[in-house]
Amino acid sequence: MRQSSLVVVANRLPLDDSAARDGACEWRRSPGGLSGALHAILQQTPATWVGWDGEVGLAPRLPDLGAVRLRPVALTAAEQAGYYEGFANSTLWPLYHDAVQQPVFQREWWETYRSVNQRFAEAAAEVAGKHAAVWVQDYHLQLVPQMLRELRPDLLIGFFMHVPFPPPELFMQLPRRVELIRGMLGADLVGFQREQAAHNLAQLAQKLLGAEASDDAIIVDGRTVRTGAFPVSIDVAEMRALATRPDVVKQVEQLRHDLGEAKRVLVSVDRLDYTKGIEHRLTAYRELLRDGHVKVRDTVLVQVAVPSRERVESYRELRDRIEGEVGRINGEYGRVGEPAIHYLNQPFTRAQLAALYQTADVMVVTPLRDGMNLVAKEFVAAREDGAGALVLSEFAGAAAELSQAFLVNPHDVDDLKQTLLRALEASPEDRAARMEAMRRHLAEHDILAWARAYLTELDHTGRLARRFIGRA
Ligand code: ADP
Ligand code: F6P
Repeated sequence: MRQSSLVVVANRLPLDDSAARDGACEWRRSPGGLSGALHAILQQTPATWVGWDGEVGLAPRLPDLGAVRLRPVALTAAEQAGYYEGFANSTLWPLYHDAVQQPVFQREWWETYRSVNQRFAEAAAEVAGKHAAVWVQDYHLQLVPQMLRELRPDLLIGFFMHVPFPPPELFMQLPRRVELIRGMLGADLVGFQREQAAHNLAQLAQKLLGAEASDDAIIVDGRTVRTGAFPVSIDVAEMRALATRPDVVKQVEQLRHDLGEAKRVLVSVDRLDYTKGIEHRLTAYRELLRDGHVKVRDTVLVQVAVPSRERVESYRELRDRIEGEVGRINGEYGRVGEPAIHYLNQPFTRAQLAALYQTADVMVVTPLRDGMNLVAKEFVAAREDGAGALVLSEFAGAAAELSQAFLVNPHDVDDLKQTLLRALEASPEDRAARMEAMRRHLAEHDILAWARAYLTELDHTGRLARRFIGRA
């Protein structure tokens, strides 16, 4: 097995099933922020990516993707249920997102989560060269840093949490809270989207381990673990190039024509997840229609909701509720050939997304809680025309950077309604000024800047970043 000097460890490999099975491999991103972000920086990097291919049973033999070697980790059906659907996505995911859905604690999930983390750590230890850097991603693999340190003390270990990391009041509910904190603190550098998260970790390390901790360093077992905020971003250059591609420009014209040239178009694009605030948004839109502030003849909502984690009951129930509500709204307010909402429950290509973003008069991104939300950034990057308005939840990590958006509290349906109207009715000058400021910010804070900042902090010398971030 070839050993690499950079190893990425993430729950998922950046492939979907068909790409993995048919051998004709190209980067096929599974919808989700993490693989999109890492995909952008790793295409030309001689690294190894350790992850799960999304299927149960024997791990497939996978060809390299560009310069990246893929090292699959196999999961059994019981492991998929206990580790991925159970502890990761029914315990940690809801708890870390402000418990907007009640977290489920099932004792037997813990052992599966622990043993799958051990397998990921062993796979990383196997493919990492001497003194390599290993970059572990997200809440699925929170125990891996410490496990890896025990197996390979020579490694430089980074951990990055893509989702929010909650305050002690919430985290303290976790039955296995001490192990989870110790697991992360096996890293040399723990990165988060927001500074508040680093502060939360410091408080928890003091409380649970009696560690000496500040918002940028925690001393544990005589070792200093650095912490900090590194807001993740997108491949701005890719999205800008897509937006101006002739076939995409044609798609935009076609979409505008199909939706009705004279209509104001609102667009939302989400994984179908209860953290994304889709139900609150539909309630606000229904009330705007009911009150006559918005009329089907002059306004339309396009809601893309790509299926996600469909074997988890709460996700299936959510899908049923959303589809019921879209049906009710269209039944009540739609006209023949003119629905109030176009609802699309399917994956889109990057080009189709770039076209859709450019069709929006108002992009509506209103999660109840989100680590970052890359859709908001993709929308801003796609607007080469400098037009369009962004309605953005205060509870998305992106709000800290895109402060010129129309910010909203999505838990407050009245605020949501008023903000949607404000964005729809804003003057072209106001929208353009806001968009320009956000585009300026993004141009300097793209995905390469994120990786460079993180890796530079990880090894202190900048050598890792220079070596691996091709376009640095
Ligand atoms: P999360 O990581 O919670 O899914 P983000 O907004 O950060 O949320 O990332 C979502 C990513 O998934 C974005 O890159 C977006 O373009 C992509 N995506 C969302 N919906 C679709 C879809 N229908 N088809 C393909 N990609 C999608
Ligand atoms: O960080 C959020 C996250 O869990 C990522 O790991 C992933 O990009 C995305 O959500 C999609 O989730 P899943 O891998 O469960 O489909």
